[in-house]
Amino acid sequence: MSHKPQIMVVDDDQAICEFLRMFLDGLGYHGIAVNNAEQAVQLYNADRPDAVIIDVIMPGAMDGLGALAAFKKIDREVPVIVISGQGRTATVVQAMKLGAFDFISKPFDEADLEALLADALRQRRFNRDVSVVRNGAQHPNTHPMVSGDSAEMREVKELIERVAGTDVTVLIRGESGTGKELVARALYTSSVRRDKPFVKVNCAALPTELLESELFGFERGAFTGAIQQKPGKFEFANKGTIFLDEIGDMSYPLQAKLLQVLQDREFTRLGGKQDIRVDVRVISATNKDLSKACAEGHFRDDLFFRLNVVSIDLPPLRERRDEISVLTEYFLRKYSVEYSRPYSEVSPETMQMFMEYAWPGNIRELQNLVRRIVVLGTESPVRKEIGLGFPVAARRATSLSTASPMVEAAAVPLAPSSAVAMSAHAHVVGAGAGASVSAVAPTRWPRPPSRAVRR
Ligand SMILES: Nc1ncnc2c1ncn2[C@@H]1O[C@H](COP(=O)(O)OP(=O)(O)OP(=O)(O)O)[C@@H](O)[C@H]1O
Ligand SMILES: [Mg+2]
Repeated sequence: MSHKPQIMVVDDDQAICEFLRMFLDGLGYHGIAVNNAEQAVQLYNADRPDAVIIDVIMPGAMDGLGALAAFKKIDREVPVIVISGQGRTATVVQAMKLGAFDFISKPFDEADLEALLADALRQRRFNRDVSVVRNGAQHPNTHPMVSGDSAEMREVKELIERVAGTDVTVLIRGESGTGKELVARALYTSSVRRDKPFVKVNCAALPTELLESELFGFERGAFTGAIQQKPGKFEFANKGTIFLDEIGDMSYPLQAKLLQVLQDREFTRLGGKQDIRVDVRVISATNKDLSKACAEGHFRDDLFFRLNVVSIDLPPLRERRDEISVLTEYFLRKYSVEYSRPYSEVSPETMQMFMEYAWPGNIRELQNLVRRIVVLGTESPVRKEIGLGFPVAARRATSLSTASPMVEAAAVPLAPSSAVAMSAHAHVVGAGAGASVSAVAPTRWPRPPSRAVRR
């Protein structure tokens, strides 16, 4: 049977509620619309949807934040996305403190909400599995961080266990698609800060100026277009964890500012005068060779040393080939259920090709190829592509499955020149308390159908 993720939408405005419900249905989710907070809590308790999108201001004894607190009491891990009005900084901060997954302001961009939901659901699945990693009770085939018995992955898992319950700063290195984000989330959920926000910022996604304002926020009038004050991701991550993804792509000038924040644990918003203190654990990830970048003068040594207190190196899939069959089996099972198309195993010939293939897109590429096999019910297109040595197979697989809410970003194989020569093991470089701060990509808000802004 297929399981459509259930998403509950709570808003007293029926038009917005209905719009969102239809929007969710269109994405392949099952949307449930509720018009008041108390009813939402009751329904949540009974149905346990996979995620909630909730407005803050609602009439009645309980508002959106009250409901958020109630959901979290029932299930600490439920991802709740809070809808806030523009400029309601205090509300947003409060929501993040209560454990909201993220927030969106009205009017919002539908693509952003879609991406946010995909992220929330992925984290949900991951959290469910991480608890198993932590008590070691799980069969490797059912674990989302699936691994065979390779020495490299054993080391990675042991290191995650070893730093669990600490605040240590961790740098995760590995080629694209090797599972860096999975590891970052595992570190977070096994840390002392797991009840606090996890804020992800993709440092490669934005130009320097935008990234700076995303990370540190800005005051009204700080630059043209800054019509209202906006807090930065570091503020949202306060007391929690910031995940600086693709840190190797951060520009040199911004690296200096980041270093300063990590050292002083305080910063000022752009155009602001007031120092803002933050206490943030930093996890960063890169597919670049940062030592080389330092040697070439593209990355600051001092920042590198701060980020690299503990490093975890994720080997490329071609260097842990004994995991290919376990991962294939896991993805076959996962997608057979997800698409209601049972496909129990691949032929020995296909498995042989998998074992010999270079996997430039690593686990993400394998995942996408297996998804494609399940959806098409045949292995020949995938075999043909692998046989022809098409490294773009993963991208095609991804575009084929864009109708699914479970779709991952397309694999972008590394060019040979940018491939990172990583050691196949994780190691502790040093020990120490986590530094501070990080940011998340700015969240824009989906635009409701009939009117743009409600309050
Ligand atoms: N050990 C694993 N078991 C199961 N799934 C995995 C594993 N490692 C990675 N994946 C899956 O592969 C995909 C890519 O993983 P992830 O996004 O963590 O990689 P990444 O290293 O951050 O990639 P990129 O550098 O492209 O951002 C995800 O869908 C993830 O769930
Ligand atoms: Mg990643």
